[in-house]
Amino acid sequence: CGIVGYAGSQQAMDVVLEGLRRLEYRGYDSAGVAVVADGALASVKRAGKLGNLEKALGETPLPSATTGLGHTRWATHGPPNDRNAHPHLDGPGQVAVIHNGIIENFARLRAELEAGGVGFNSDTDTEVVAHLLAAEVAAGSELADAMRSVCRRLSGAFTLLAVHAEAPDRVVAARQNSPLVVGVGTGENFLASDVAAFIAHTREAMEIDDGQVVEITPDEVTVTDFDGVSAQQRRFHVDWDASAAVKDGYDYFMLKEIAEQPTAVANTLLGRISSSGRLSLDQMRLSDEELREIDKVVVLACGTAYHAGMVTKYAIEHWTRVPCEVELASEFRYRDPVVDRQTLVVAISQSGETMDTLMALRYAREQGARVLAVCNTNGSTIPRESDAVLYTYAGPEVAVASTKAFLTQLIACYLVGLYLGQVRGTKWGDEIRSVVRDLADLPAKVEQVLETMEPVRSLARELAGSTSVLFLGRHVGYPVALEGALKLKELAYMHAEGFAAGELKHGPIALIEDGVPVIVVVPSPRGRSVLHDKIVSNIQEIRARGARTIVIAEEGDEAVQPYADHLVAVPECPTLLQPVVTTVPLQVFACEMASARGFDVDQPRNLAKSVTVE
Ligand code: G6P
Repeated sequence: CGIVGYAGSQQAMDVVLEGLRRLEYRGYDSAGVAVVADGALASVKRAGKLGNLEKALGETPLPSATTGLGHTRWATHGPPNDRNAHPHLDGPGQVAVIHNGIIENFARLRAELEAGGVGFNSDTDTEVVAHLLAAEVAAGSELADAMRSVCRRLSGAFTLLAVHAEAPDRVVAARQNSPLVVGVGTGENFLASDVAAFIAHTREAMEIDDGQVVEITPDEVTVTDFDGVSAQQRRFHVDWDASAAVKDGYDYFMLKEIAEQPTAVANTLLGRISSSGRLSLDQMRLSDEELREIDKVVVLACGTAYHAGMVTKYAIEHWTRVPCEVELASEFRYRDPVVDRQTLVVAISQSGETMDTLMALRYAREQGARVLAVCNTNGSTIPRESDAVLYTYAGPEVAVASTKAFLTQLIACYLVGLYLGQVRGTKWGDEIRSVVRDLADLPAKVEQVLETMEPVRSLARELAGSTSVLFLGRHVGYPVALEGALKLKELAYMHAEGFAAGELKHGPIALIEDGVPVIVVVPSPRGRSVLHDKIVSNIQEIRARGARTIVIAEEGDEAVQPYADHLVAVPECPTLLQPVVTTVPLQVFACEMASARGFDVDQPRNLAKSVTVE
């Protein structure tokens, strides 16, 4: 969910709505706001996207106020209707609360409150907090004290924000296993689930830890633990530019973010390779000594980041000969995995807040593993809880379907692999140097792919009526096939599946019938030509059964041409680096397909960009 709170001198509603617009990618089932004006609360909430709320506010504006909060929801408890939208108020309307996460003991708390005669207006777990806070304040507590006392009674994961009718200049928040940052301004302060909400106003931010309560007024930020013991404040500067989070003339954020990929890739490489070709990762806080002790790498991630993790496995094992596993973060900690001090966990997350990944990382650390985070969001939870961090410099990614973050995750993971190789003393120094040169060529190659995408767009429009699209790849082309299929599912709501091309004959080939579009990611014919030849045979097998083949292959690859109904040529690249160029046409294809089918490209149904529940 997206959360914003404001205390300052501007119109709270303007600041809160603008913040919500920038956070809408965190959830868009419903939205709501509340302000404190003249000793009373005023609140409006609506099911559906933020536009519905804005329309309602246009018809009945809220009173002028300089303190307020707002929320965009990704439903957990209760369907996404007006009633379950946040904020939630207590009966008399003295307290308004917004919440991200799940309060696990809410049923017991609700039963207690109901036994005491309290009536409920929604099906949510959040509403109990509004009633509990109201009761504490009615009994004489300050709002921040009330919040501390209520938090001590809650279990689960939550970010909570609350305002009280009689505290016109303050917003109180609590954090427990769910994201929250403070934006520190001059004469105004902000609370938000991520910095994107306030970067138009201030780039000074403050980290809040789990188990803390923070109170903002226009001039002060006070942080304590749940027992009221004051906590040290840790500030950081946000280097994202506010203009990066606007569409800038593009129809969709996704198109803009696809176009930004050459720069994002270049930025992620910047400053990490010295002129002598030596890698220096200054945010690598693990010593060389520690990295030499590693006998296994485990990559953990979800969604698109997991596909970057799969490519990482191929790269790390090839370059370093250290065994590398990759696992969906949501599966990891529940199966008693073998992890110890000799394990390096690489946690990949664009947002740095994905709960599945965070929980997997915490579990790994408890077992003694060292954790290296590959992350795009400064100040987020996953890098803060890791032993080392390698930031990707994609800039803010707003479209729910990840594009530029994925490409930069690939780059960062290659760097991790090369760095491990370098540190562990290597007989292949020349290979590092040559890979480093190839990496430096990638931004121009991605640019070149982007310039040749018109035929892919028209193909997507032509295929918009298909019921199913299959994707095939081998080696690092296999995760690319999975990513292509995921993009199509997410955006075009179409049956799409990716397979390892060699596995096709063991079952999925039964899906091939006349005219089924199959997109095949073909490895370079140079280098490991055996892979190439094998996939050319696989293409022939599916063509013989009627498939319509769309082939992504290296330019000049003549061997594959006779078997391609449509050929998408990409610049030549060493095999391991190929995903950086071969993924791009699949992103463009999915984006165009969604738009041709009339769907919302940036905010596909049921999804959220940052999923902070398990
Ligand atoms: C969500 C998003 C996906 C994303 C995944 C992991 O499910 O919809 O696009 O790949 O989370 O996100 P992360 O921020 O951890 O990379």
